[in-house]
Order: sequence, then structure tokens, then C-alpha cells
Amino acid sequence: MTFAGDELTGAQVAALRERLDGFTVDAVHAVLGDDAWYALARGETTPGRLATTSGDRLSTLIRLFQLQAVVDRSAAEAVFGELLGAIASAGVVVCSGDEVRAAVDIRPYGDEGHDWWVVCDLTPGLDGRLAPMDPAYVLGISEASSSLAQLTSRREVGRALDLGTGCGVQSLHLATRSARVVATDVNPRALAMARLTARLNEVDIDVREGSLFEPVAGERFDLIATNPPFVVSPPDGERLVYRETEFPGDDVVRRVVQGANGHLREDGWCHILAAWIHTDDEPWQERLARWIEPTGLDAWVVQRERADLATYAEMWLADGGHKGAPDYPKRYERWLRWFAEQRIDAMGFGWISLRRAEREVPAVRIEEWTGEVGQPMGAAALAWAGRTDALERSDDILDTAWQLAPDATQITYGGVGAEDPAAITVRLEHGPRRSARLDTIETGLLSASDGELTAGQILDALATLLGQDRAELRATYAPVVRELIADGFLHPAG
Ligand SMILES: C[S@@+](CC[C@H](N)C(=O)[O-])C[C@H]1O[C@@H](n2cnc3c(N)ncnc32)[C@H](O)[C@@H]1O
Repeated sequence: MTFAGDELTGAQVAALRERLDGFTVDAVHAVLGDDAWYALARGETTPGRLATTSGDRLSTLIRLFQLQAVVDRSAAEAVFGELLGAIASAGVVVCSGDEVRAAVDIRPYGDEGHDWWVVCDLTPGLDGRLAPMDPAYVLGISEASSSLAQLTSRREVGRALDLGTGCGVQSLHLATRSARVVATDVNPRALAMARLTARLNEVDIDVREGSLFEPVAGERFDLIATNPPFVVSPPDGERLVYRETEFPGDDVVRRVVQGANGHLREDGWCHILAAWIHTDDEPWQERLARWIEPTGLDAWVVQRERADLATYAEMWLADGGHKGAPDYPKRYERWLRWFAEQRIDAMGFGWISLRRAEREVPAVRIEEWTGEVGQPMGAAALAWAGRTDALERSDDILDTAWQLAPDATQITYGGVGAEDPAAITVRLEHGPRRSARLDTIETGLLSASDGELTAGQILDALATLLGQDRAELRATYAPVVRELIADGFLHPAG
């Protein structure tokens, strides 16, 4: 069904906002209770229907949009009044006889400081219903969108770009810290939904149609956030615009990476939630490095997951609504055969953060981190950049004062009641929760790094204390200090 949210007048959008007042994440959770709330998160609506029989405004909104239930026209009129006709014409709801159902989702969403609504397509497959996806389907809030919101660095900036906006969720986040937000998409349905999302939340977003960076030719940004359609699938299969493009393999991600430099201002960041192919003839790290190298940008790439191809195919076939359909085994086989033809080994999934630092030798860190992460990752990316800048500034890292990371905690191991620990580990709480096993020198170095004594002074004192040669200790531990800084155990002073 056509969505024409753009046809709602300013007064109608204001009236809709009023009717939605109080329809927040917390309020929905309170009405549903924990059991129905988590059941809905698993795609089950029955507990929710039982919890929303009161007939009040909030219960009707929950039944209509979140549970996708049919509600009586009288109940819908009690919520929307005269607006019901207008939102039906705009394709927000469908009225038929005495019944009303949602045609799209208006979903409460929020962060620590905001309550928003996001306009998107209805969640498919509730209550186990098998439903093939429409190619123009507009995705709502997904794990990927939340992950990108956490990855995006949080600084006050001038101009931000939400590339592939979908329902407009990233734009809502970006608008909290950016003077101006541009949102782009190729899907006109997504653009219409992003516009209504913006209008409902009274957020000013410049929404533009076009592929990748085309709609922003010649423009630069302080911040770019994107969760591009990175699913790698056989080109002769269905193309769902929210997850697949016309570009082969993982080329959409390469294009975003390589296009970013031309659209970033100095010290600008581009955060990409991405996937990449693993092949047997090139390690994935080299593939990513090959994409990044010509850009001259600093880059921090984190592979969060390596999926085997069977798991990958199952996940995306289920996502497309094919699981359980008669042709499911045939489709599954086609995916696996195509992967083999393409010599694809596995799929990597993770985060790419690019920064225009204008360095002679860009800082590029490409790593796998499947362990715990202390969110928000965006803060960790900014801290990484700060440490990278500090390393570049200091001619001699041993002549520089460093400071123990404020989120570092020490864990000691040893026999119960033993006087001295057998081993000491230090662990970080923010960003990748790295831990490092320390020797005596490293323990002394970290604990004395107060931002005033230089690393060299501390090593000299330790050499004296332990009866070791100063020059030798400095030579041995200079690379260790560098690694402790790079990994985030030591920070620039102040
Ligand atoms: C995975 S969704 C991300 C939506 C939203 N940004 C989020 O974080 O949830 C990818 C979006 O990119 C859009 N898209 C697809 N191909 C595109 C292209 N060539 N250029 C720009 N956007 C595209 C899709 O329509 C979809 O809205």
C-alpha cells in the first residue's frame, strides 16, 4: 500500500503528535508488563493482547501499532478523532467497515534523554506468520540500528549525514548533536517515512533521494553514520532494498569507505556498520586495508563476528520470510552454490570508523574483537583518536607523561591467603573490554602513570628498585608502552 505521510499537513501532524502523547517506550513496557514485553520482542503478541483489554488510549495504540491487531473503529476514533480519515488517506492506517488496522508502524523509541516515534513498516512474521518481504520494505529499529547509534561518535558538530536513512532513526540521534542533518535513501517509501518521523518529532532533517553520496555531491560533513544494505546474496535472487543493492558482493561497503574521504571535513568521522567477504586468497584484514589505504583516512576496523556461510544463508533467508516455505531448501542451496562459485569462505561483520586526520601516515588499526564491549563505542573511537594524536605528537614516548586509563581495574590471581599474587591482570571497562596480563615492570609502570612522571622516569625508578640496567629496560619496554597506549591502558596526560 502506498504511503503518503507527506500529504499530511503541518496541523495534522501536530494533531497526530498530540494523540500519540505518552506513547513512549517506558509507557508501553509498563502497560504490557515484563512477560508480554519480552514475548513481543520474540515476535509473540498473545500475552500483549491479553494485557491491553482496557480500551484506554494507550492500550488501543499498542494493539494497533505494536501488536498489529485489528481494533474497533469506535476505539480508533476515540484515539484519533477526526484525524482518522486523514491518516487513513495517508496510508498510516486502513479502515474497513467497523475495523481499523495499522498499515505502517509508529514505534515509540528513545535514548537516555529523548522519547521519539519512528515511522516504518510493520514488523513481519509476528506470531510465526510466514510472509515474504516487499522489496521496498522499510526497516524499523533493528539491532544493527542500535549498534550504529552506539558506534557513532558523540560530539557537537555542524553538519551530519545519515546515508541510507530508512525510517530516519540515525537522523534522530544525529540531530541531538548536529546543527544540520542531511538524510539520504534510494527508496522513496523510506524517504516519506523518514520525513514523517522527523516531522512527528519536530526535528529538522533535510531528506534527499539518491544512491550513496550522489545526493550530497560536493558537500562535506563532520559526521557520517551509515548502516548500508550490506547483505551479500546471489544477484539473481530477490533484492530487498533495505539489505541488498545492485552492487556485487560487498562492494557497497567498499564504495562507502572510499567515498567517505571526499565528503568529510577535517577531523570529520564516518561510522559504518558493515559486512565483508572472506576469501581463501586474501586475508580479510588485507581486503579492508586495500579499501582504506587509498583514502588516506585514519581507520579503526573491528570485526565483531565471523559467520560461516550456512549460518549466514539461514539468517538472511529467515529474515526474508522464506524459512518454512516449500522452496526454502532450493533457495538455501542456491545461496551456498553461489558462495562457492564466488570463492567466498565466510562473512565478516563489524564496525568501520574512519577519520579525516590529514596525517602523512594514516593510523589504521584492523582487528577482531568478539569479546565484551563497554558502550558507547563512539566514545571509545574518540578516545582512540586522542591516543593516536598523542602518539604522533610525542617524539619520544618515554619522554612523555601518560596516565593510567580511568576505567582500568586490576584483577589479581593467586593461592588463597598467599602474600603475593601469582599473576596480575588489568582490564578496561569502556570500548573493547581488553585485559592484559602484566609483569612486575608493567604493573609498576601503569600504577605510577599519574600524568606527571614520564614513562622513562618511571622505568628508570623501576630499574633502580629492581637492580636492572636502565638503558636495557628502556629499550625493552618502549614498544610495550606504545602497545599499552594503543590498546587504551595508558592515556595522554590530562
Ligand atoms: C539496513 S537499512 C538502514 C536503515 C537505518 N539507517 C538504520 O540504521 O536502521 C539500509 C538503508 O539503505 C537504503 N539504501 C539501499 N540502497 C541504497 C543506496 N544505493 N544508497 C543509499 N541508500 C540505500 C535502504 O533503502 C535502507 O533504508
